[in-house]
Amino acid sequence: MTTFATAFVGAPEQVGAARRWLSGVLGHTPETHVPDDVRDAAALLVSECAANAIQHTHSGRPGRSFSLSVRVDPGRVRVEARNRRPYDALSAPRARRAAPDEENGRGLALVRAFAAEWGPLALEHGVFFTLTWQPDPGPDPGGTPPAAPAQAA
Ligand SMILES: Nc1ncnc2c1ncn2[C@@H]1O[C@H](COP(=O)(O)OP(=O)(O)OP(=O)(O)O)[C@@H](O)[C@H]1O
Ligand SMILES: [Mg+2]
Repeated sequence: MTTFATAFVGAPEQVGAARRWLSGVLGHTPETHVPDDVRDAAALLVSECAANAIQHTHSGRPGRSFSLSVRVDPGRVRVEARNRRPYDALSAPRARRAAPDEENGRGLALVRAFAAEWGPLALEHGVFFTLTWQPDPGPDPGGTPPAAPAQAA
């Protein structure tokens, strides 16, 4: 298991910074290789979570921040995006089915579509998602014996 965490100023240009941070982390995990498509999907989904933190919560106020943490295990990435309380006290992260002509309402639908699991954080404000893949098999602990050398005729 490897974990990383950081925080960003709650300003719109930080959405790209969050995406680059996560992509960088997932490109250098020491214990397991994260496939490129998983890394790309994680960066896409974290953009939506960061944008929501800035747009819908007090993390978007001047001087406020949102934070990210990521845990990587073989075959699984879990990302948590923490933010301050929402502007609307009744607002909670909910995936909608936006009508074709609606301009908004697709961010969490993307998270729902790509993630293995996702939802609001249980004890804090924010969202988590996980992505999974079939990890590379580790080295054979029994040690496969080397092939016998070919016999000369
Ligand atoms: N971190 C959050 N805290 C509280 N409510 C949230 C949070 N993120 C999203 N929401 C709520 O969930 C709704 C759906 O979010 P979603 O990202 O799907 O759409 P959107 O942000 O309204 O539009 P879009 O992402 O397409 O620009 C939001 O309108 C908001 O009410
Ligand atoms: Mg959104």
